[in-house]
Amino acid sequence: MAKIDVDQISALIQKQIENYKEDVRLESVGRVLSVADGIANVYGLSQAILGELVELPNNVKGLVFNLEQYSVGVILFGRTELIKEGDYVRSTKKIFEVPVGDALLGRVIDPLGNPLDLKGTIVSEKMLPVERMAKSIMDRDFINEPLHTGIKVIDALVPIGKGQRELIIGDRQTGKTTIAIDTILNQRDKNVICVYVAIGQKDSSIANLVKLLQIKDALHYTVVVNASAAKESTLLYLAPYSGASIAEYFMEKGKDVLIIYDDLSKHAVAYRELSLLMKRPSGREAYPGDVFYLHSRLLERAGKLSKKLGGGSITALPIVETQAGDISAYIPTNIISITDGQLYLENKLFYQGIRPAISAGLSVSRVGGAAQWKAMKQVAGTLRIALASYRELESFVQFGSDLDQASKKRLDRGRKTVEILKQDVHELISMESQIVTFYALENGFMDDLNLKQLNNMIDEIQQGLSLNAIGRQLKEALSRDKEIKDRELLEQFIHHVRRFV
Ligand SMILES: Nc1ncnc2c1ncn2[C@@H]1O[C@H](COP(=O)(O)OP(=O)(O)OP(=O)(O)O)[C@@H](O)[C@H]1O
Ligand SMILES: [Mg+2]
Repeated sequence: MAKIDVDQISALIQKQIENYKEDVRLESVGRVLSVADGIANVYGLSQAILGELVELPNNVKGLVFNLEQYSVGVILFGRTELIKEGDYVRSTKKIFEVPVGDALLGRVIDPLGNPLDLKGTIVSEKMLPVERMAKSIMDRDFINEPLHTGIKVIDALVPIGKGQRELIIGDRQTGKTTIAIDTILNQRDKNVICVYVAIGQKDSSIANLVKLLQIKDALHYTVVVNASAAKESTLLYLAPYSGASIAEYFMEKGKDVLIIYDDLSKHAVAYRELSLLMKRPSGREAYPGDVFYLHSRLLERAGKLSKKLGGGSITALPIVETQAGDISAYIPTNIISITDGQLYLENKLFYQGIRPAISAGLSVSRVGGAAQWKAMKQVAGTLRIALASYRELESFVQFGSDLDQASKKRLDRGRKTVEILKQDVHELISMESQIVTFYALENGFMDDLNLKQLNNMIDEIQQGLSLNAIGRQLKEALSRDKEIKDRELLEQFIHHVRRFV
């Protein structure tokens, strides 16, 4: 019998083990260590990348959210109650993706692209990662085209350009959503695709919204992404990013897109919840340290592409809710500093009946002015001054002091400006109509009117521009030139309209 050479055998085994190690693909499957609240702690995915899509049993998907020394934190989507300790987690080496494309138009979906309406499955031609790099400076162009909201106070005083990021900020129930929705409604026949991302709202509000879009014939150019308050914070967290990817698809096809995030305060809260569950250290107001990055990387994805890249754009209207008008809280200040301006809605104005309750003093648009029609610049220049001096004089009037003739005139002009800027829900005013109205105000054609006559005149202008022959001619000239060239025609129309008030 041959003698067993222990050394030789152990050397052989050693070699086998070494070779064996070389063969193995490095840990592409991990196992769930623990699972709770839609979050799994996974062992064995040491090669995982942040934001990676991982697959679990029962068609549950995961997004790698936390990279720790010995495990990774994964947020789960789907029937997460079916996931248990010990389940396998397969790495995919690609970033979490959502379906994008034309098939989504007119649909209501969840942030994963699953339909929430009763219109059947969505067959989309393409998937895009939810986290994508924002376009570089060289890939962008200046903002040079206006995005008209149909809301007078915005189009005149805080104009928005295509590719701009304009924050809508205010307390609860001050008309934030209404402004966003009216802006969507105003894009009908204007070749702009709209994406409305609802974060943490009631399902019933979204159902009403979808009905409204349908009635106003605005659903067919809109995608509604809904992560309602009833859903896990994981879905709420994901919603704006998947909305951004859906918008980017259209932008990269050369289209103009309007995206609304309603609202990012709730988004920040969902992110805080996830971060606390992941045991990330918390800072101010218990938000994690990277809450600025949460929104900056999202809003940087809006913008205007260079001609070389097709010239498409994403205009973003994020919404933030304040508590008791406090715009210096953590999330509001962050987002104010990221965006190109804000529409500040004031409680006080809303209750005084000055609606939309946009404060002319505290609202700004840092880039939209460059894109505004010249005609609007010609007539809206004095509006802000009229409003400011009105506020100043109004306080004098409250003291009962006598005013001289000139001040009385300014007071009256201011009062009429405030009245003209009032606008009802879903009552959209065309650009041409706005220009004629402001022209009439500025040039004294409304000085002798009382409030009722003033409102009649506003209506007559809007109607006359499409019903009357001179009006139609004027409308055509204004929309073609985007500038007031023929003052005679304009005044002829105003005189015509004045006969009816
Ligand atoms: N311009 C307006 N004129 C008259 N009513 C308005 C106007 N804008 C909004 N409203 C009314 O005010 C209410 C609140 O509006 P909206 O839902 O847009 O506010 P919000 O700030 O989005 O509220 P929330 O904080 O609940 O999201 C609604 O009933 C709406 O019809
Ligand atoms: Mg709202």
